[in-house]
Amino acid sequence: MQMWKTRHILLGMLTWVPILNAWRQRHASTGGSDSARYCYSVWFRHLITLNRYGFNVSGANIGELGPGDSLGIGLSALLSGASRYVGLDIVPYSAKADLSKMLNELLDMYTKEAQVPDDKEFPSVRPLIDSCEFPRHVVDGGNVIAKAEEIRAQLRSGLDRGFLLGYRVPWMSLPQIDESSLDLIFSQAVLEHVDSLEETYRAMFAWLKPGGYSSHVIDFRAHGRSPFWNGHRAYSDRQWKLVRGKREFLLNREPLSTHLTLAKKAGFELLLTQRDQAPHGLDASALALRFSKLSETDALTSGVLLVLQKPKSAQALSN
Ligand SMILES: C[S@@+](CC[C@H](N)C(=O)[O-])C[C@H]1O[C@@H](n2cnc3c(N)ncnc32)[C@H](O)[C@@H]1O
Repeated sequence: MQMWKTRHILLGMLTWVPILNAWRQRHASTGGSDSARYCYSVWFRHLITLNRYGFNVSGANIGELGPGDSLGIGLSALLSGASRYVGLDIVPYSAKADLSKMLNELLDMYTKEAQVPDDKEFPSVRPLIDSCEFPRHVVDGGNVIAKAEEIRAQLRSGLDRGFLLGYRVPWMSLPQIDESSLDLIFSQAVLEHVDSLEETYRAMFAWLKPGGYSSHVIDFRAHGRSPFWNGHRAYSDRQWKLVRGKREFLLNREPLSTHLTLAKKAGFELLLTQRDQAPHGLDASALALRFSKLSETDALTSGVLLVLQKPKSAQALSN
């Protein structure tokens, strides 16, 4: 066994010690969406890209899978003209967030028409965009101050009440959201963590209105479990179970082709696949057997943006 695996297997095993696991859960965060600049950057990157495929944020009903440390990306979506947002997660990371502070910081950037934070500030944030100028052409021209006031009113009355902003944690099944009710469901660095990928693609498809969009940045890298970008695929399934331990999620280790197959099986049309070419990693011979025969595209894709659309002709699924 490669030496670097041992540390990660041991750390995973420690999560079975109740006191250590409780400490881990108390201190866990996802890193990223606790920063308003990150949220502003991620939202505009999705919105600018989606706009090229005909998505209009004005009045849109939007869902996000796995918002993480805050609902700041959703707040950005509301400020840019969406009429509703719901975040669906399996761990309530955002419950600790100061959403009023986040809103104020985002509003400040909006009213100043601040540039979208670029690749120097967030080198690994995707999707890449051609220009970081404030994208006036993609946002609703409505009154952003009045919108922020409506959001504040809802933050005061609680996320479980009100129309604008929702947070479902843990979400576990399709009926969490009405079928054919969303114009967009998106995620940032989430689908590589989801255990039940097939059900998740099916649920996202069902939640969307015909013609609705789905936009996902997926990071296929090892997330610190190996010094090599593809080293997570070097663990056998048994070793990987030990690495995960009692963590609520880790990595499903599925390659790009699995996502494309499941999205298609759910009924989606593929509008865009924007791949990141992998840096040098472990050779196929060093990977676990089931990853050693990946296609060249899967083996060399370290990240992707997928833009999907529910066909305009699609019927609502019935459970
Ligand atoms: C790496 S964090 C990304 C957080 C945030 N999107 C960001 O860009 O910073 C992964 C997030 O996915 C969530 N997650 C994992 N499995 C999930 C699932 N099945 N459904 C929804 N969210 C999930 C985690 O709880 C976590 O919030």
